[in-house]
Amino acid sequence: MAFFIPEDKLAEIRNTADIVDVVSSRVLLKKAGKDYTGLCPFHSEKTPSFTVSPSKQIFHCFGCGTGGNVFNFLMMYDNLSFPEAAENLARQYGISISARKMSGAEKQRMSEREQLLQINRKAADFFRKMLLKNPEGEYARNYLKNRKINRDLVDRFSLGFAPAGWNGLIRFFNRNRVAVDMAEKAGLVVPRKSGNGHYDRFRNRIIFPIADASGQIIAFGGRVLDDEKPKYLNSPETPVYNKRLTLYGLNASREACRTHHAVFVVEGYFDLITMHQFGIANTVATLGTSLTREHVRRLKGYAKKAFLVFDSDAAGVRAAQRTTGIFMDEGMDAAVVLLPEGHDPDSFLFARGAESFQQVAASAKGLVDFQIDASIGRNGLNLEGKVRIVSEMAEPLTQIADSAARSIYIRHLAERIGVDETTVLEKIAESREKSNAASDRPPGVAPDGHAWIPDRFEARVLAMMLQYPEIHDEIRTRAVLECFGDERLKAIGEQILNEYPHKVKTPAEFMNRLDDEDQRRLVAKLCIDEAPWGEQSCRMLLSQFFKAKEGKRGNGLLERIRAAEQKGDQDLVMKLLKEKQNQMAGRH
Ligand code: UTP
Ligand code: MN
Repeated sequence: MAFFIPEDKLAEIRNTADIVDVVSSRVLLKKAGKDYTGLCPFHSEKTPSFTVSPSKQIFHCFGCGTGGNVFNFLMMYDNLSFPEAAENLARQYGISISARKMSGAEKQRMSEREQLLQINRKAADFFRKMLLKNPEGEYARNYLKNRKINRDLVDRFSLGFAPAGWNGLIRFFNRNRVAVDMAEKAGLVVPRKSGNGHYDRFRNRIIFPIADASGQIIAFGGRVLDDEKPKYLNSPETPVYNKRLTLYGLNASREACRTHHAVFVVEGYFDLITMHQFGIANTVATLGTSLTREHVRRLKGYAKKAFLVFDSDAAGVRAAQRTTGIFMDEGMDAAVVLLPEGHDPDSFLFARGAESFQQVAASAKGLVDFQIDASIGRNGLNLEGKVRIVSEMAEPLTQIADSAARSIYIRHLAERIGVDETTVLEKIAESREKSNAASDRPPGVAPDGHAWIPDRFEARVLAMMLQYPEIHDEIRTRAVLECFGDERLKAIGEQILNEYPHKVKTPAEFMNRLDDEDQRRLVAKLCIDEAPWGEQSCRMLLSQFFKAKEGKRGNGLLERIRAAEQKGDQDLVMKLLKEKQNQMAGRH
């Protein structure tokens, strides 16, 4: 549960949680010199520019500019609040934080997100008790038994049962003092059309809690026990549930994905659970939506290759058409596994077993190859057929943004169907023109929209201050921050002077004190690629800095003295006058 974490516990977490450890359980990292690099989970890229520094305990992406410390990483990756990220790390590293009761005021401050997650946890407990203990759950227990889901799997996936009445969950919420408006926000109860009261969204259904990568329950799916419609009902999107980001089972599967360097992507809840039951634990499920770019970005943090499992040619073709461009852009290998018509992974495994499944998977074709074969299958290889194949394949081939990869596939298609490569090229050029004219898809990597371009010199001074606190006294006496032109950098500088060395000692700790994302990104960037600072390099920078400032603004020092006088800061005036004297002395 989420609560407030005392300062000493935070320090313990900070000292124990290793950023390389935490990031590498979500992003594949390689050692590169003293740092680690990998593909950034926050933007599209094929060559690693995401860098993690073990010595500084921070990360920074040279591609999209994001960065921060271990807490920021978890907050961004799992969409967590700060206390949630801290709590997560504490759990992972076995640091116990005493869960003292919250005061009323603290409860108020508990973010909406935290409240929603708490409500989801309570609901999951309720559904689970209903399934395991309630007489009404008998029917659901039998249903699961018939589908060969044993108690172990029920526990592993926290399955539950929503009773048939209209207000079982609402009554439970009332007893447990959960506010109905928050339960509505969580998507668990629905307001009556009459405007009077609410009713349970999930009724008489098997419940599948949906967890994020760190195991927090963010949504639910529910299946009917008979032939009612709709067969499955899912939570609506809420502040904690983003469909584009969520893959069912990822939390349970990530270790296995790492071990196998591959991940199976199936479509359904039961498919996923049955894959686990048959020992194929490197599986996630998409839950009735198609795979998004964000999904793929997540997946490539766990595996090199994705196997998309489908039950029919048509479904495979549709998915391949939609996702070829995404997988290509993200630099992740993907192949299509086609099960015999009428079988999904769940039914196939029970009918034929895991070994047969692996055999089918071994014959999976790459996304482009799969589309070529499907097109050949539809059109045949006679003259007209070939013409149609080339024109059908033009569109998917134009989706391949990488020109080297595109030409390899073009040659491959030409050879495969025995036509001249230039013919294929022409057709593709035609289709590219069309799609360029028609589409608004931005080319390549989306430029990152941050408009703040900080002053370089001033930024370097901050880098120095962050990493060489010995210089702070000098920064104060020479009133360096007073001549900063960039107000935001100046504010960071002032904060550094205020918080070092009592509240923070390292840049990674300092990041916890920054609320503004731009500031945090900048601090990460400033720290990651700097050579260690020393007395010498600091003095050099400061003298260059003053020279540049004086040059730029005429006699900047006089301006600063005037400003200090206006503010009535006598101390500063004296300091600056002394500085002025030194300067004059230096000139002679
Ligand atoms: P399927 O209709 O193939 O169902 O939907 P299934 O997974 O094989 O379910 P069983 O075996 O009959 O119990 C595949 C997935 O699509 C989503 C669900 O996530 C489902 O698991 N779906 C399906 C919905 O979200 N809503 C629906 O009405 C149907
Ligand atoms: Mn099924």
